[in-house]
Amino acid sequence: MCGIVGYLGSKEAYPILIKGLKRLEYRGYDSAGIALVNEKINLYKTKGKVSNLETFVESKNIAGTTGIAHTRWATHGEPNDVNAHPHFSDSKELAMIHNGIIENYDVLKEELMKVGVEFKSNTDTEVLIQLIEYIMKVEKVDLVNAVQLAISQVVGAYAIVVVSKKHPDMLIAARNGSPLVIGIGEDEFYLASDPSPIVEYTRNVVFVDDEEIAILKLGEELQIRTIKNQVKTPFVEQLELNLGDLEKSGFKHFMIKEIFEQPKSIRDSIRGRVNVGIDNISMAGIIDFKERFLQAKRIIFIAAGTSWHASLVGEYLFEELARIPVEVEYASEFRYRNPIINESDVVIAVSQSGETADTLAAIKLAKQKGALIYSICNVVGSSIARAADAGSYTHAGPEIGVASTKAFTSQVTVLVLMALLLGRKKGTISETRFQVLLNELNNIPSKVEQTLQLNDQIKEISKIFTYARNFLYLGRGFNFPVALEGALKLKEISYIHAEGYPAAEMKHGPIALIDKKMPVVVITPTSAIYNKVVSNIQEIKTRKGKVIAIVSKGDKLVSKLADYTFEIPETEEVLTPLLSVIPLQLLSYYIADMRDCEIDQPRNLAKSVTVE
Ligand code: AGP
Ligand code: GLU
Repeated sequence: MCGIVGYLGSKEAYPILIKGLKRLEYRGYDSAGIALVNEKINLYKTKGKVSNLETFVESKNIAGTTGIAHTRWATHGEPNDVNAHPHFSDSKELAMIHNGIIENYDVLKEELMKVGVEFKSNTDTEVLIQLIEYIMKVEKVDLVNAVQLAISQVVGAYAIVVVSKKHPDMLIAARNGSPLVIGIGEDEFYLASDPSPIVEYTRNVVFVDDEEIAILKLGEELQIRTIKNQVKTPFVEQLELNLGDLEKSGFKHFMIKEIFEQPKSIRDSIRGRVNVGIDNISMAGIIDFKERFLQAKRIIFIAAGTSWHASLVGEYLFEELARIPVEVEYASEFRYRNPIINESDVVIAVSQSGETADTLAAIKLAKQKGALIYSICNVVGSSIARAADAGSYTHAGPEIGVASTKAFTSQVTVLVLMALLLGRKKGTISETRFQVLLNELNNIPSKVEQTLQLNDQIKEISKIFTYARNFLYLGRGFNFPVALEGALKLKEISYIHAEGYPAAEMKHGPIALIDKKMPVVVITPTSAIYNKVVSNIQEIKTRKGKVIAIVSKGDKLVSKLADYTFEIPETEEVLTPLLSVIPLQLLSYYIADMRDCEIDQPRNLAKSVTVE
C-alpha cells in the first residue's frame, strides 16, 4: 500500500511533502521518511507515523526544492527505521520510494550481493534502487535508461520515484500496478499515490499508466515513455476534488464525519441518474453495453471487504429485480482457482479505492476470458475504473477513514439503480413497482438523516459494551450482508472479535457461543421473514444472550424481547440495508472511541490495499 509523494520546483519541498504524507497516511503508517536533494541527498526516516518524522527532523537540514517522501505499510521487512523508505543506493547518490512488491527481489538480491553490493535493509524495495545504480555503472547508461532496464527485470507491482544527487532538477517515476499521479504546476511538478496531496497546488494532472516511465525535469515539459522506450503524449486531466472533503471539518475523526455525510453522499450517487418528473434512470455505462447486460447469463461480482458486502446486497437486488443469476466472489480467491468465465458473463468489480490489487488482478483475468467488465468505483481515474470496459462512479467524495462507511451506502445506491434499470428493461419488474422503488430511493437520503438522530442513544448504549470480548451480528435476506458489514466495522476499529451470520444459521453452530456475556446485534426491519427472525431472537433470549435489535419504527414485538432497540424509518425491504447499516456504523465508532482506539488508522490496516 504505502503513500508516495514527490516535489520538483522552486518552493521548499519539505512542507509540501509532509502535508502530502499526512493526506496519504490512510494508505499505511508503519514508518515515514523523506529525502531532500540539496548538494547531497539528506535522507531522514523513522518508524511510526508522519508526526514521528516531524519530531525526528527537528533541528536537521531540511532545505531543498526537490524531494520525495513515503509513508509505509510494510510487506517485506519489519516496520523499523532501517526498512523505512526512502532507500539509498550503495553510493548514496540515488534514493528511491516505492509502493508495491518486487516479487523476484530475492533472485536479484543474490546476484547483486555476488558482485559486492551491500544491502542495508530487508526490503524488496532496496533491491530495485541498487539494481538501478549497478546498471548505470556496468552498462554505462544514464539514469533514465538504467531505470528502464532495471524495471524490465522486475516482476511485481510498483510505483517508484527516484532522486539523484547529480540531477537535483529531475525526478524519475515509473508505474506498474500501483497508482501514480503527476500534478503539473507552473515550472513545478508534484507526484503522489492519489491526487489529494496535489489538489491545492494544481488541478492539472496526468495519471501514469502501467509500464510507463515519467521523466520530470525543471524547465521542460513532462515526458512519458514506455519501458520499451516508446514516447507517449501525456494526457492532462482536470481534477474535480473539493479541498474541504479532505479535512475533518470539526469532527473528531474522519469516520464519524463520513458517517454523517451519508445523506449527501447517497444523494450524490443518485444525482444526474434519476430524471425527476419523468421517473427514468439513465446510466451511460449500462446503456452503452445494454445488449451485453440484457443477454448476460450470469453476473459475477468481484470485490473485497466492505465492497464485497455491498456486492452481496447486489446479488439480492439483481436476482430479485432483474432476475439475473449472480455470483459474488472474493477477488483474492477468484483468480487462483481457474474460474469458469465466458463471453456471456458480465463481471462487476466493486471497489471504493479502485486500487485493490486483488480486485484489479481478478478483472484482468476475467477480461482475458472475454467477459464484459463493469466497475463501480469511488475514486475517479483509479486503476480499476480505467481497466474496466465501462462503469459507474459512486460519487461519494473522498473516504479517508480506513473503515468504509459512506462508500458502502453509495455502492448499494448505485447497485439499486442498476438493478432497477435492468429490471425495467428486461420486464422483470412491473412499471408500478419500478416507480414505487425509485420514488422511495429518492426518499432515502432524508430517511438516513432521521436514522442519524439515533446518534446520542447509540453513544449512550455503547458505554455498556466497551469491554465486550465478542459480538455476534445476525440478519436475514437483504440484511444478512449488513450483519457481515456490522461485524467487520466493529472488529477493524475496536479490535473486538465479531462475527456476522445469517440469523437462521445460528442454530447450526454459533448458538453454542450464547450466554449472558454475549451481545447479539439482530437486524430485523419489517420484511417478509420478520417473524422468522423474531423466533431467532427468542432462541437467543432463552439462552440469556443480550440482544441489540435494529427494527422498523413502531415495532412492538421485538422491542419487548430485545434488551436495546434502535428504530429506523420504515422503507421498502430491498432498500433497508441503506438504513440498517447506519446504527451499526455508529455503534462500532462509539465503542472504538470509548476504547481509545485509533479509529481512522486502525492497527495493521490501510485504506488502499495495493498488494496481494
Ligand atoms: C472496510 O472497512 C475495509 N477497510 C476493507 O475491507 C475494504 O473495504 C477493502 O479493502 C476493499 O477496498 P476497496 O473497496 O477500496 O476495494
Ligand atoms: N514492499 C515495500 C516495503 O515493504 C513497499 C510496501 C508497500 O507498498 O505496501 O517496504
